[in-house]
Amino acid sequence: MNILAIESSCDETAAAVITDDARILSNVVVSQVDIFAAYGGVIPEVAARSHLEAILPVIHRALSDAHLTKDDIDYIAVTYAPGLLGSLLIGTLTARTLAILWNKPLYAVHHLKSHIYANWLKDDYYQHASATLPQTSSQKGEGTIPTTASSLFSRESGGSAEDERVDPATAGVGDAAREKTVKTQFPTMPPFPLLSLVISGGHTQIIYIPSHNHFDIIGTTRDDAVGECFDKIAKILGLPYPGGPSIAQAAQTGDPTKYKLPHPKIDGLDFSFSGLKTAVLRAVQSACELPITTPSYELSRHLTPQQRSDFAASFQSAACDILLEKLQSTRTAHPDAQSIVFAGGVSANQILREKAYTAFPDLPFFFPELKYTGDNAAMVGAAAYYEIQSGVQPVDPYHLNILPRTPIK
Ligand code: KG4
Ligand code: ZN
Repeated sequence: MNILAIESSCDETAAAVITDDARILSNVVVSQVDIFAAYGGVIPEVAARSHLEAILPVIHRALSDAHLTKDDIDYIAVTYAPGLLGSLLIGTLTARTLAILWNKPLYAVHHLKSHIYANWLKDDYYQHASATLPQTSSQKGEGTIPTTASSLFSRESGGSAEDERVDPATAGVGDAAREKTVKTQFPTMPPFPLLSLVISGGHTQIIYIPSHNHFDIIGTTRDDAVGECFDKIAKILGLPYPGGPSIAQAAQTGDPTKYKLPHPKIDGLDFSFSGLKTAVLRAVQSACELPITTPSYELSRHLTPQQRSDFAASFQSAACDILLEKLQSTRTAHPDAQSIVFAGGVSANQILREKAYTAFPDLPFFFPELKYTGDNAAMVGAAAYYEIQSGVQPVDPYHLNILPRTPIK
């Protein structure tokens, strides 16, 4: 069984081919992060136009990396929800068109489900043929927005000396953490029922999963998502977008105990991150001896490099503790859980990975391999694979709608 999977929910244009047992045959990601680093965040219209330029070359590359043609593809899978409206439209319209033209069954996959199923991916067949693609290329400072798909492909991978951004796949990675990460991965599969902590730029949720394709959201954020909080704190500290990797990097030389930050008292299994964000803001104003009326964008130039690192480390540590404490309460409330599965961009965080060992010494927990924590299409293919295995029926390619804000199902 070969599945061509497509992902375009935010600012990564991605296609992958997945085969039996969620094994990766190819995985191509073109990131727009260079474009949005210049603006400090995603501009939806620009993201949609960039997807339009990239999507067909990316699909073509995914097929050629897998040494397959369209005739070898059995199914098409695409992210239909949630995400940016214009971005989702490009992926779904492309997938619908290909499903009709090639006469293939089409699977519509929820983005958070894909992040969760990144934990089931196996890449032992995959020769990393697309490793030269510009997943984290450096265009920062050049001020150029690629105007053709070929220019997306011609960018070199890796960062330049001036590039301040940090690759999420290596941010804060020490040898010890790498080794620990590997221990929690393939070939062991997460046993059910399980608890999943989904932590991305737009979501912070705890989901109880009794078996494949059944999801019960039991905790969610009442305000900011944790990834959004990383991004906003990075802005206050004057660290580059995206904030998660740059905070992790800055924190490496910081003292996580330097600033005492509050843990919110929220009953039940919900989260709140807005209080932590405000606490960091006030602590930075105070450390800079500036009034609380000072706008956040004024603050970073008053910080010393050491203060910046100490704030990054203190915030990162508090955010990870808040996540893990709530997850521990969840486990107490659901003692039948056989494992914990971390998912989403923030699951790349190495401090979170290390702290998980202390928080859950006696329960198996799983993190996706670092390169599959961010948005990619391989995880979409993995989710579709387990839908197909569970007998879920394909959708009608003539009537698939996008749903920019809809819960996991
Ligand atoms: O899952 P994702 O790639 O996109 C969404 O579906 O939102 O998550 C992106 C988020 C961003 O907020 C980014 O700052 C955060 O993941 N992130 C991290 C790290 N790498 C990415 N947060 C903390 N530590 C990291 N190493
Ligand atoms: Zn995502």
